[in-house]
Amino acid sequence: MTADQLLTNVAQLVTPAGVGASRGRDMRKLDITRDAAIAISDGQVIWCGPRREWTGAADVEIDAGWCAVVPGLVDPHTHAVWGGDRLADFESRATGVSYEETLAAGGGIRHTVACTTASDTDALLQATLQRVRRMTRAGATTIEIKSGYGFTLEHELRQLAVVRALAALVPATLVPTMLFHLPPRDAAARVDWMQAAVFEWMPAIRDAAVGSVDVFIEQDAFSVAEAGELLRAARAQGLQCKAHTDQFNAIGGTELAIAHDALSVDHLEASGPAQIAAIAASRTAGVLLPGVTLHLHMAAADGRALIDAGAVVAVGTDCNPGSSPLFSLSLAMALAVRLNGLTPAEALTACTVNGAAALGLADRGRIVPGSRADFLLLRSADWRDLPYTLGDDAVARVFIAGIETS
Ligand code: NIG
Ligand code: FE
Repeated sequence: MTADQLLTNVAQLVTPAGVGASRGRDMRKLDITRDAAIAISDGQVIWCGPRREWTGAADVEIDAGWCAVVPGLVDPHTHAVWGGDRLADFESRATGVSYEETLAAGGGIRHTVACTTASDTDALLQATLQRVRRMTRAGATTIEIKSGYGFTLEHELRQLAVVRALAALVPATLVPTMLFHLPPRDAAARVDWMQAAVFEWMPAIRDAAVGSVDVFIEQDAFSVAEAGELLRAARAQGLQCKAHTDQFNAIGGTELAIAHDALSVDHLEASGPAQIAAIAASRTAGVLLPGVTLHLHMAAADGRALIDAGAVVAVGTDCNPGSSPLFSLSLAMALAVRLNGLTPAEALTACTVNGAAALGLADRGRIVPGSRADFLLLRSADWRDLPYTLGDDAVARVFIAGIETS
């Protein structure tokens, strides 16, 4: 066998064990190979194992410098396209005004929508490019990016077009999602708007080559009945669905999304035993967003209970200006151990193969023959430094489809 590249001097090659999404306590099972090598051709792993067992040839040999190597991280939840900032909200929250109060008063997300729709497309693209670069430096090689700061079909599609344009400029895989973030505040306008969303927006979203629709289901956002109409219409167009559920109140969003075979339900801070049991009994991944817990100083989702119940659990940054200005999925992984009760191994699985599962991607998240050659060289010879280190990323070098990113 001849490889394009052979990565050698790998102190530990670490990858989640098993096949497909990793569920419950299986999330703790990692395969760890010491003094390993990885053979890569055409952007894919073609062989990996103990260095001494490699008998093939390679055009190029890359010296990993005796570090640990883990799969590239998969961030299944970001809102990385935005204009303006939320620095005033940040200051007022420190004086006791809550996120929900700001939102109910017409600020928060609505402020970001005003700033985003006022930004010109090139400025949005440049700002998002810088954010994606920061995310990739911290280890994310696949990044989902939602719209949701447009509110009109034209502006939502513009945000999604920015994601598509960026996907051609960066080595990371970018996965666009249409987010139904908030309905109109006026009750009469809301009914007409729902009709347009179901009958006009959904076909346009499908035609824009967007694979998934997300809905924010919450007391101050979409009701369960409205979200049901949106998710049904999305499925009828062949779109996948997911939802922001149980962020502040468990109003039935998790159960609704599961009934639509959602890829994921995300947030879950207010989920109780019934929601946790429903997720565990489903194929839908539960996505934890510990950056929100930290930034809004709110309750953490009970990741421990989800995993013990047998759920597929993933972790995302939720990178956005209002609830989680967090760019590093490495740090989200580290926070999931401290705030959501995950073990370090579960957190690594949550940020790799289960993040991929939450996006419906089966070709990444593990370092095994046939997977995409997305992997990270850590600064340390021990992979546990990745979830251990806080704030100073433990990632030294990032490879995407076998090519080192700068
Ligand atoms: O995931 N919960 C709603 N949406 C985002 C926040 C967006 C914002 O505050 O701008 C979230 O937390
Ligand atoms: Fe979000």
